[in-house]
Amino acid sequence: VNTEEQTVLDAYQWLVKLYHHLLRHSKDGKQALQYLYDRGFSDEAIDLFQIGYSPTSKDFIVQFLSNKGFHKQIMANAGLLNATNDGNYYDRFQGRVIFPIRNHLGKAVGFVGRTVSDQEPKYLNSPESSLFKKSKLLYNFDLARSEIRKKGEVVLFEGSADVISAHQAGVTNGVASLGTSLTESHASLLRRYVDTVLICYDGDNAGLNATYKAIQLLKKTGCTVKVAALPYKYDPDQYIQEYGKNKFQEQVIDAADTEMVFLMKYLKKNFNLKLEGDRLQYVERVIEEIASLESSIERDHYLRALSEEFNLTYDALSQELNARLLNGK
Ligand code: GTP
Ligand code: MN
Ligand code: MN
Ligand code: MN
Ligand code: MN
Repeated sequence: VNTEEQTVLDAYQWLVKLYHHLLRHSKDGKQALQYLYDRGFSDEAIDLFQIGYSPTSKDFIVQFLSNKGFHKQIMANAGLLNATNDGNYYDRFQGRVIFPIRNHLGKAVGFVGRTVSDQEPKYLNSPESSLFKKSKLLYNFDLARSEIRKKGEVVLFEGSADVISAHQAGVTNGVASLGTSLTESHASLLRRYVDTVLICYDGDNAGLNATYKAIQLLKKTGCTVKVAALPYKYDPDQYIQEYGKNKFQEQVIDAADTEMVFLMKYLKKNFNLKLEGDRLQYVERVIEEIASLESSIERDHYLRALSEEFNLTYDALSQELNARLLNGK
């Protein structure tokens, strides 16, 4: 951390406090606070996650930072303020609820701003900087770290709202990537702490596709992957609001599928299993995945399941698998 970065960290610390204070105590923040209550966020969670509010003013934050002696150009370079080409400065997150993003040391290094009034985009992030690298940071990693280590398991969510909702529901080992897909850096960071990653993305197609991609990345690091299946069109936050924390724990988290069961379900979507040709292609595709399993016991287990489901002899499937294993696929 150089001196300019230290200045930026100081500014972040001031802004986290200011945004939080404005959410809690300003007239302008009332609507935002009500929005959070309506979503089911508790006062404890609002404090713990240091949630805040940036007023609708064009330059409230500009004035605040410059009154504190921060140089506007440095603040703009770091993404705390926006700058126009003609050298004017204005507030970046006007009228948005603010979720501070902290690094592993617990220092705020970025913000995510969510609209409370259907502004586009729905979520606005701080721009990338030397301190704020979305490919490396995970929302809530600093708070969840000790739980993650203790449980030997991390729950991976799509959004910060899911992390907070899950936390309120007692799932305190959750993190989220910041509107980007999981990266190799994220995967290797998590691998240093856990053997098992439980993916709990949204139940829509985007969530399923992102789950498939995350599995490929996480497998490379050698961790065990589980997948929590949500009903279509629910995300974890919506599920918790509708069904409550016990159902979330029992029917989503505890009932997570193994990676292979997820893949078998996921790959089915690409085939019309009423057609014989598609059925055979599907079976071959699944055998390809089974071949990549490390454990011969697991390979045997899923091969048997496949043989029963499609009424094919175990021997035939096993020949196919062995051919793949010999070819190194
Ligand atoms: P809520 O609507 O507040 O419940 O958010 P969500 O987390 O359910 O959002 P969604 O499932 O649509 O998207 C998942 C994540 O993608 C969000 O948490 C954001 O990090 C990111 N995201 C969603 N919309 C946008 C957007 O418009 N811009 C950017 N940069 N990121 C977005
Ligand atoms: Mn306060
Ligand atoms: Mn989504
Ligand atoms: Mn969602
Ligand atoms: Mn949501």
